[in-house]
Amino acid sequence: MVKAVVINGSPRARKGYTAMVMEPFIQGMKDAGADVETFYAKRLKVKSCTGKMHCWYEKPGICYIKDDMQKVYPVLRRSDILVLATPVYVPLPGEMQNVMNRLCPLVIPKLQIRAGRTRARFRDDVKIQKIVLVATGAWYERENLDTVLRIAREFAEDASVEFAGAVLRPHAFLMKQKGELTKDGIAVLEEVKKAGRELIEKGKMGKNTLDTIARPLIDREELLQRYNKVAKS
Ligand SMILES: Cc1cc2nc3c(=O)[nH]c(=O)nc-3n(C[C@H](O)[C@H](O)[C@H](O)COP(=O)(O)O)c2cc1C
Repeated sequence: MVKAVVINGSPRARKGYTAMVMEPFIQGMKDAGADVETFYAKRLKVKSCTGKMHCWYEKPGICYIKDDMQKVYPVLRRSDILVLATPVYVPLPGEMQNVMNRLCPLVIPKLQIRAGRTRARFRDDVKIQKIVLVATGAWYERENLDTVLRIAREFAEDASVEFAGAVLRPHAFLMKQKGELTKDGIAVLEEVKKAGRELIEKGKMGKNTLDTIARPLIDREELLQRYNKVAKS
């Protein structure tokens, strides 16, 4: 059975738009037979990395900081897929960055050159083969999520595993109105579920599926009007 671990970095945890998108993705993975475990960075007590490289040079593979990351490491080690789920905070919420920095002990402290770049790789006891991104933003264009996409892709390449694609949802807040999912919101979440299924069944998500998820829901001028109406300056 494929095992996936999700790290949701939204400070709004279960109440956030990222969780709203993440839930059907998890359901899709489960429908296709995956075992999925989720961590909310906000609910974990995770100290920031001290940069002493203890996990590389003193005790390779072991983080000396005794906090909630110690219960995340074993799950990461036995997972085939790591899903990074995050809102865009130009670029990441602090909670998410903290967890990502603390993934250093999963990596072998020996550098290699691959395709002209200095890279490392996951330790042999880390099963992760694929990294996937699920990201939401509030602004109009899909390109607002490019920085986060770059981070997730770079992270996968640094660890020498496949970057298996990104579920990107710009202006995610428009999927709900007065707390209820809109028709478009429901349709997008159906596609998200499909993406989760495809990831497990085919090993990758279809381009059409991902494009449908990321599609504009209204035109840009209308978004500006709706967004700016509630903003005080
Ligand atoms: C500090 C901060 C910075 C943000 N920067 C961007 C941004 O550059 N582009 C964007 O599209 N959304 C931006 N957003 C909006 C969030 O990414 C968006 O509302 C997201 O869906 C929130 O997800 P959540 O509810 O799971 O936390 C920002 C939000 C915050 C709080």
